[in-house]
Amino acid sequence: MLSRIKDIAASLAPRLIEIRRHIHSHPELSGQEYQTAAYVAGVLSSCGLHVQELVGKTGVIGEFPGQGHDPRRLAIRTDMDALPIYERTGLEFASHKPGIMHACGHDVHTTIGLGTAMVLSQLGEALPGDVRFLFQPAEETAQGASWMIRDGAMQGVSAIFSVHVFPTIPGGSIGIRYGALTAAADDLELIITGESGHGARPHEAIDAIWIASQVITTLQQAISRTHNPLRPVVLSIGQIQGGRAPNVIADQVRMLGTVRSLHPETSASLPAWIEKIVAGICESFGARYEMHYRRGVPSVQNDPALTQIVEAAAQEAWGNDRIQVLLEPSLGAEDFALYLEHAPGTMFRLGVAYPDQPNYPLHHPQFHVNEAAIITGVVTMAYSVYKYWHPA
Ligand code: NI
Repeated sequence: MLSRIKDIAASLAPRLIEIRRHIHSHPELSGQEYQTAAYVAGVLSSCGLHVQELVGKTGVIGEFPGQGHDPRRLAIRTDMDALPIYERTGLEFASHKPGIMHACGHDVHTTIGLGTAMVLSQLGEALPGDVRFLFQPAEETAQGASWMIRDGAMQGVSAIFSVHVFPTIPGGSIGIRYGALTAAADDLELIITGESGHGARPHEAIDAIWIASQVITTLQQAISRTHNPLRPVVLSIGQIQGGRAPNVIADQVRMLGTVRSLHPETSASLPAWIEKIVAGICESFGARYEMHYRRGVPSVQNDPALTQIVEAAAQEAWGNDRIQVLLEPSLGAEDFALYLEHAPGTMFRLGVAYPDQPNYPLHHPQFHVNEAAIITGVVTMAYSVYKYWHPA
């Protein structure tokens, strides 16, 4: 079966590169993936899949029916949105839309989803149960997964696979991670209110800027003293506003930040921990505060048995030299985590680096992809699907 999957994928290679380049040159921002969705729906229909459009606003579902004697349903999830970045790759198929770019490889993910559907439809052999392809919008804004789930995308789903490109892994290699792959990411807003006064007479005022600086410094120090260092927490204040004039003490400061963690118990404890510190400092110096803590996405926790299936599929397909078992998770975030609240799943990393030229990070205006990896991704995904239904 593996060699048949490889043969079909190889014969599809020119078409898949054409698809990827089309999507790359027509990027759309999160929640506005209308053309991409229509294009995806067209390709899925031409493969004979049952297609549902406008799921989760601009998402698409393609259903590949099985023989029906296995009640399980396997889902493959990919994302379709691009980023507000001016592309500077100089590629001939670079973005036609100034200021919008596929700089996170979602064009490649979409192509791998379509390629997997094409391979399965050409196998000429029905699988025991259904495979559902989810093409979600708005991953970059961490909204698309919840929109899809709200519209029933996970109904009846027993397991889910996904893939993300990675520019620090050689093109054509696969990164496998057991356990935590990405972090929980929450938003923090703090408003500290003191009392304005003359800059020359601080004792008559309550200096919100100075108190805010105490809050930031204490939070950063306390992280290292009160959290288990083997259970990472990152708190970054990325925006701060306050004050009106050099000689007027500021009465209010507003801070916005992101809070990242890997362990669910740690994530659960963070809002109360932060508030205790903020409240203590504000109280000491007579300031008031408001804190808004918004839960973002949880941590992606890869299921061991499903990760094992993908690892075994990749190993058989490409050999050990092209597998990297990743020892460290990332503190980035992925809304794939939300699907995992409904069914176990795993996401693998697909290497897209070139061996002989500079490679740029995700979200960089020169981010580019070694297109040879597309076939690696399609074969790995399609063979993982086969192995899910036919465990050795
Ligand atoms: Ni991404």
